[in-house]
Amino acid sequence: MIPYFSIIEKYLNPTSKAFRIYVVHVTNVTHLALKIGKRLGLKEGQLEFIEEACMLHDIGIVKTNSPEIGCYGELPYLRHLTAGRKILKKEGLPLHARVAANHVGVGGLSKETIKGEKLPLPHKDILCETIEEKVISYADLFYSKNPDNLWRKKSYEEIKVKLQKRPEQLGLFEQWYELFGE
Ligand SMILES: [Fe+2]
Repeated sequence: MIPYFSIIEKYLNPTSKAFRIYVVHVTNVTHLALKIGKRLGLKEGQLEFIEEACMLHDIGIVKTNSPEIGCYGELPYLRHLTAGRKILKKEGLPLHARVAANHVGVGGLSKETIKGEKLPLPHKDILCETIEEKVISYADLFYSKNPDNLWRKKSYEEIKVKLQKRPEQLGLFEQWYELFGE
């Protein structure tokens, strides 16, 4: 198991607001992702990866301008994906870096969606490929980083309402719900 807490503490000051929000959020997501991973019968090494990558998946927030969660960088919030990928690659963790980059929407976003919605991301597909990546991206949908709602798990219905603007993602979420549960 990689010492993920030392990486978290390297980028987020443990006495900061961002750290408190970060740790609660990623711990909730990790708990759910591991529960799903175990239910799916994933192997020990896969579960270990899920734990590590989940705990690090949002590390890029530190580079974004998101004062509501205590982050005072310069990038728009969505760039926490690319910033996280960069950080984890630098830490020598290319597979964890993939999770930082693709835990968005339901199983990632297509180039067409990024272009069509004028999202501040490079114009290329960022899609979850492995089962570990899919489970993490899915579990992340259930928890927000809103300081008022950090501990609250969203319901299936609530997530569906949020996904209504992207019908193809809504369909995939319904499919994954059948497979993964909650
Ligand atoms: Fe997250």
